[in-house]
Amino acid sequence: MKFFIDTANLDQIREAQDLGILDGVTTNPSLMAKEGISGQDNVMAHYKAICDIVDGDVSAEVISTDYEGILREAEVLAALDEKIVVKVPMIKDGVKAINYLTQNGVKTNCTLVFTVGQAIMAAKAGATYISPFVGRLDDLSENGLELIANMAQVFAVQGYQSQILAASIRSPLHIVDCARLGANVITSPLSSILALLNHPLTDIGLAKFLADHQKANG
Ligand code: G3P
Repeated sequence: MKFFIDTANLDQIREAQDLGILDGVTTNPSLMAKEGISGQDNVMAHYKAICDIVDGDVSAEVISTDYEGILREAEVLAALDEKIVVKVPMIKDGVKAINYLTQNGVKTNCTLVFTVGQAIMAAKAGATYISPFVGRLDDLSENGLELIANMAQVFAVQGYQSQILAASIRSPLHIVDCARLGANVITSPLSSILALLNHPLTDIGLAKFLADHQKANG
């Protein structure tokens, strides 16, 4: 399972990259706004800065909701860097645009997916990645992980090539469960990725090893 970081914060992206576990980055308009990035030139420069840090795919989301507008934005984004994946919302014009972009060799990420039916439509359109939002389903007392499991089953049965990119990850347990259930990729805040490292028995055990070494060696 690939690890993407879900942020537009350059320091966090650098930290994950330095750790050696980063396979890519996803952003969205909310994450860009959170970093105070606005205006077409600044937004493009920021995407380029992200691409210069990471080795893998970088999802950059369109803000148009009509077919022509999505394609216009996609052309500009895709020309920015070969790592760019054009992130397109799960709407009718979005699916149509994904189909066109796929046929023209542009990588896509279909975002805001909440049902297996939507995922099937995105897979039929040929999306490179499909992003089911785990945490936002949990927020509504629906089971986000069940969507990952159901998508993995359908994609295996049907042989769909799109990668399941589990998004809206809120905890280290979400990451572990996504790995167990067959997600191809998770995109997560840095905090949940780093939390995978932690266990108190590791800390206690390490402290004991070091203390015993110190005792024996003075
Ligand atoms: O990038 C889309 C998704 O990961 C957003 O997550 O936490 O805002 O639901 P969240």
